[in-house]
Order: sequence, then C-alpha cells, then structure tokens
Amino acid sequence: TAVSTDTNEGIPAKALGEAKPEKLNILFGTHTGNSEGLAQNLALEAKARGIEVEVSDMASFKTRELKKIKNLAVIVSTHGLGEPPVQAEDLHKYLHGKKAPDLSHLHFSVLALGDSSYVDFCQTGKDFDAVLEKLGAKRLAPRQDCDVDYEETAEAWQKTLLDSLVKLTPETGAPIAPSNETATVGEVKYSRKNRFEATVLEKINLNGKGSSKETVHIELDLEGSGLKYEPGDALGVYGSNSPKFVQSVLEVTELSGEELVESHAGEKTLRDALSYDYELTPLSKTTLSKYAELTDSARLKNILADPTSVPEYLQGRDILDLLKEEAHDFSAKELISVLRKNTPRMYSIASSQEAVEDEVHLLVSVVRYQAYGRDKEGLCSTTIADRLEVGDKVEVFVDKNTRFKLPENPDAPIIMVGPGTGVAPFRAFMQQLEVSEKRVPSWLFFGDRNFTTDFLYQTEWQQYLKEGVLTKADVAFSRDQEDKQYVQHRMLENGKELFDWLENGAHFYVCGDAQKMAKDVDLALKQIIQQQGGVTLEKAEEYVKNLQLANRYQADIY
Ligand code: 2AM
Repeated sequence: TAVSTDTNEGIPAKALGEAKPEKLNILFGTHTGNSEGLAQNLALEAKARGIEVEVSDMASFKTRELKKIKNLAVIVSTHGLGEPPVQAEDLHKYLHGKKAPDLSHLHFSVLALGDSSYVDFCQTGKDFDAVLEKLGAKRLAPRQDCDVDYEETAEAWQKTLLDSLVKLTPETGAPIAPSNETATVGEVKYSRKNRFEATVLEKINLNGKGSSKETVHIELDLEGSGLKYEPGDALGVYGSNSPKFVQSVLEVTELSGEELVESHAGEKTLRDALSYDYELTPLSKTTLSKYAELTDSARLKNILADPTSVPEYLQGRDILDLLKEEAHDFSAKELISVLRKNTPRMYSIASSQEAVEDEVHLLVSVVRYQAYGRDKEGLCSTTIADRLEVGDKVEVFVDKNTRFKLPENPDAPIIMVGPGTGVAPFRAFMQQLEVSEKRVPSWLFFGDRNFTTDFLYQTEWQQYLKEGVLTKADVAFSRDQEDKQYVQHRMLENGKELFDWLENGAHFYVCGDAQKMAKDVDLALKQIIQQQGGVTLEKAEEYVKNLQLANRYQADIY
C-alpha cells in the first residue's frame, strides 16, 4: 500500500489545533528579473509564516489553474512604453479577452513595478489589478506601485498581503507554526538601499571633435565593496542637480536656500535637498498632479483630465518651467512636497568583472537639449559629464538583470544589435569571452551618426575581430550619406546569413533605444524570418515568440 509522506493528510486543520492559510500562488512577469526576485522573497517570507506557496513565471503558468487557485499574488513589471513584459503578454491578453473566467472565488493582490518618469507608470500592474477585480476577484491588499527604488514599497506590500492572508485563516486560536526556512537571503553589504560610494578612476568623451554627440566612458572603482556583477547587469547611479539650476529654482520661488527642511534623507538646507534629494528635471506626472492640487490651478487640472495632453505637456518641461508658468507663493516645505524623490539612473554595464576586477565601466550618453527657451540637461548624465572628476565619489549599486545574459549553452552563437550606447553590454560580453578564452560565433551590429567621430570603442572591436573573439561586425552610420542607414538595414542585407545563425541556435540580443530602434529591429527580424523561412508573418511572429520564451531573444531597451 502507498504510504503518504504527508502525515497531516485527510485530517482537518481544526482537529490538529493549527490552521494554515490556504496556499498562496505567486505569479511573476519579469523584464529584468526584479519581479522574479521579489516573488522569491515573498515565497520565503510566506513559508516562514507557515503558508504554503507556489511561485510561477507567467509564461509557463496554465490559465486553467486560475479556477483552482484561492490566493494569488501578482508581481509584474511594465516593459517599454506601458506594455507587459513578453512573459506576461499571453496571460494579460487572456484575462482581457472573451474567454476570461469568473474569478469570484479568488483573493488577490498586485505589486506593480515601473519607473515614474514614464507616463504609463506601472501600467501592466494597473491592468492586472483592474481586470482581476472586474472578473470578480477580491483584493487581499491594495495594489502598490513601485518606482525604480522599489525595496521599501515592496516590503510594505508584502507585509500587508501576508497579514491579510493570515487573517483569512479559519479561526482556531492556535498560532501558525512557522517553517524552518528563514527569509534571510544571505548578507549583502551594499545594495540598492545601502549604496556604495565608488571613486571615479577615468573619464573620457568617446566622440571625436566636431561630433553632434557626447558619449562618456567612465570607469569606477568598486574596491572593498564586495559588489559583484555579470555582463548584462546594470549599475544604478545617483546624480545631483546642477548648482546653477538649483539657484534658478530658488530665485523664481524667492527662497534663499538656507531654510531647513526635512527631506526623506534627513534635515538639511533647502539648497542641499534640492541638489541631492529631489529631481528637478524631467517633470513627472505625479509632480504635475501635486502641483495642480497645491496651486489649485484650473489650467493644470484640465491638462491632467485629458490623458493625451499630459505627455505633450511634460515633454521638455522641467520644474522651473512649471514654476514660471503657474507662479505660486511656495514655502520651502511645499516646494519639496511636490517633487519626485531623486531616483537612480540605470546604466547597462560596459565591462566584465572577470576582465576588469574591481572596476566597473559605463557608457553614458549625455543629455542636453533646448526647450521652452532654455538649455536643458539630463540629471545623471550631466552629473557624470560635468560634476564628476577623477577622484570624486558617486553612489552606486548593482542592478541584476537575469534576462540579459550570455547563453547558458557555452557553444551557442550570439548576435548583438547595439547602436549608440546600446553597445555597452556587448563590450562586457566581449571582455568576458576574451578572458574565458572561449570562442563562439559572434556578430555585432553597431550604428551611430558619423563614422569619423562616433564609432564608439572602434579600436577594441577591431582587436576583438583580429583575435577571433568577435567573428563579424556590421556598422551603419546614419548621417554619413543622404539616406539614413541604420542597424536594421545591415540586418536585412545579411538576412540569409542571419537566419542561418538563428537556425543554428544563435541567441539574439538588442540593446538601446526602445521608442524606435528596438521596434524597427524587431520588425526587421520578423521580416528576415518571413523571407528566409518562406513563412507567413504570423508564423514569423510565432518563431520570434518562441525565441523569446527560450531566452534566445533578449532585449535591454530604454
Ligand atoms: P539618427 O540620430 O541619425 O537618426 C545611435 O543613436 C544611432 O541610432 C544613430 O545613428 C541614430 O540615427 C540611430 N537611430 C535613430 N533611430 C533609429 C531607428 N529607428 N532604428 C535604428 N537606428 C536608429
């Protein structure tokens, strides 16, 4: 006879004098691996409280399971411009479609990940939250929307969710026996919360004289930090606002800057708070909303009421424009209350730690433009370009990206598409392959504006080609001729060979601009598969989807 290993089987929880909340299913839809990490954390914490858990990736989750599940935690990030990550696409579509089931038996809660500098902040999480409610499910805990620095919000959400789950347990009076597993995940000294102050070792503008671009290569020292990164990971960097810009904000608000304020980082002068703790540029929708409330401006409220006019209004504006347009007699405290907390910028790492050891290299495109009659600058990129010198320190942390990694199969060929700063992680790939002395077929597509001034890391690529670390390179310089030439044109010209590589198991990587480039590259890829494979567009799309699900199509786009 079969012996059950579960000794509690068949005995009602009540009879055991101990009640366990019903199982919690955790579904994650991740883009860079953050949602996955948070899902694993929640699972550990739930187990520590005696709750049975099951964690699944949205892509491999069977939708028919939804009928059986009692408690569901959804952790999902938003990809590109308000879209679900690839893994979450099917479930997202299914829940919004005609075949969506009745979910009135279900309790749920959503943790949404995003970046509040985008207008469609946390859109995918918002979609899941709304659709689950629409299908009859009841909230265990309110949805939480996390910004780039998500740790505290995620922790608070997790606690509320688990508390509420425990409360749902049938009354027995007996405490829940915790399992032996603990929720501590090893000791990390420096993290997103506890940043490391890295020293600048080297800084170079890679663009030649007369270039229309400014792309800075910067090397930082991580010695003593214990920080570890792998090719494909990003570095979070905290910038500061330029003293000149802070001064302009103080002048227009008629504040001295000497006022003492309580920022999230403690008590300090308004000038310091504006310099280091808050963002003055770009303008976020949250800031606009708070500003409209505080000033009671009918004009701003009108803009906010129309979703299409919001991105248009935010485009190119910063807090100074707003202060000038909608003047208000701000106190120091009020001023900081409308501002977004200074958030780190994530830069794809351009080095391999196996090659450079205690260093980390970044490739940063410096953001400067003109709008509303003034020169504007990006906060973090100009911190790096203008306010950091060799020897200075800057706060950083490593942001793992488990979804942008060299193939697990060490023999798989790689195709890398990275115009502009998108080439950064591919330099890391090359360094890694070079030290490992492993040679695999590798193919780089690089593009930028002009050959003579903008061929980033040109001599390094030439060296990698010579050594055989890089097998093939195709470049497109968009502004060297009348008609624009882009990386996707080089891909299309090499369609047959590219398709052969894919058929031979190549992994396809794209890094860089999300708005246009990555979309055009994706189209070109589908077109190549359609032409070379002799299939319909639908089949080509399926081919690409399968590549994505097999982790053979990875995108790091921004
Ligand atoms: P452009 O600025 O001349 O239009 C890196 O920024 C390179 O990417 C530049 O050469 C830029 O060209 C190019 N680029 C701009 N839009 C692109 C697109 N849709 N697809 C591919 N490359 C693009």
